[in-house]
Amino acid sequence: MIREQMEQSLAVPAQAPTRERYVLHRAAASPSNSFADDVRRGLTARPKFLLPHYFYDALGSALFSAICELPEYYVTRAEDEILLSRAAEIAAAFGPRVRLVELGSGSARKTRHLIDAILARQASLDFLPVDVDAGILASSGHDLLNDYPRLSISAICGDFRNPATLLRPYLPPSDARTIVLFLGSSIGNLDPAAAGAMLSNLRTALAPGDALFLGADLRKSPSILEPAYDDALGVTAAFNLNLLGRINRELGGTFDLSAFAHRAYYNESEGRIEMHLVSREGQRVLIDGYEISFDEGESIHTENSYKYDDASLHALAEAGGFTIEQRWSDSNGYFADLLMVAE
Ligand code: AVJ
Repeated sequence: MIREQMEQSLAVPAQAPTRERYVLHRAAASPSNSFADDVRRGLTARPKFLLPHYFYDALGSALFSAICELPEYYVTRAEDEILLSRAAEIAAAFGPRVRLVELGSGSARKTRHLIDAILARQASLDFLPVDVDAGILASSGHDLLNDYPRLSISAICGDFRNPATLLRPYLPPSDARTIVLFLGSSIGNLDPAAAGAMLSNLRTALAPGDALFLGADLRKSPSILEPAYDDALGVTAAFNLNLLGRINRELGGTFDLSAFAHRAYYNESEGRIEMHLVSREGQRVLIDGYEISFDEGESIHTENSYKYDDASLHALAEAGGFTIEQRWSDSNGYFADLLMVAE
């Protein structure tokens, strides 16, 4: 379908009334984020850390998909329940004429519930999925175009850590209300200050009345939180350890993965799950000509996953220049999706 459309667009004159249904934009890569530099910076810091952003190579993305199927990982199912059972209500709250942006769209599987409900209310829809992975933009775009003849896609391949910079060129003034989806608790990787800064940056690319539709995981008992990040099958352990495997594959590292243990726990005072890789012994590792040494029990902090409550959600909205207008939750009260309107 995508190739067909491209060939067709070459075959018709420029002033033809047919409208291209799929366009891919490649945003310029930001220069300051090479994997090698970030690994060196993180592993020479004290305490050592690595950025969760780098979990998602091909194997890491496959492992994350497997995590979403785990009985312990309630996050995906809880949000899916909300989007499936409340789609009509959510689309009504979006209003009569919208265009949809999605940060970190991935397979856009959950988004389909919203697209269905929006297309029941309006004749056509412009969808602007944003992802760092051009491959997944192409495959999910292809599937969406096949399934939704009234959908047009402007896919944006790029890093959305500064969303306004990335989005502004692709959001021309429009009569449609812009709704930005940021689903799945992706916001949870950012500490509260960085999350507020990201929203306030996003706000500058929006008009007053436009909105963010944000998925946030809620604070709950560690007896539910901790198994979700330390499952019995060991998939999350493999997901975490794959970061060291990726350093071996891409940077010539000499990590022995069996010499590190996956550790995940809820840090109650910070309101976050922390994931670490703990060295089982004193050891030295070579990475591309430099050496990193580990004490026995020393950890690499690989991820934070912040959990929200009403107070922290309001603080987040306020920091970003948004007002929480509506809130939907799943039947267990594990997860929330919020409609935050730009002030
Ligand atoms: C993709 C950031 C939402 O924090 O739940 C899942 C990542 N890490 N299991 C999360 C993750 C380990 C996930 N997010």
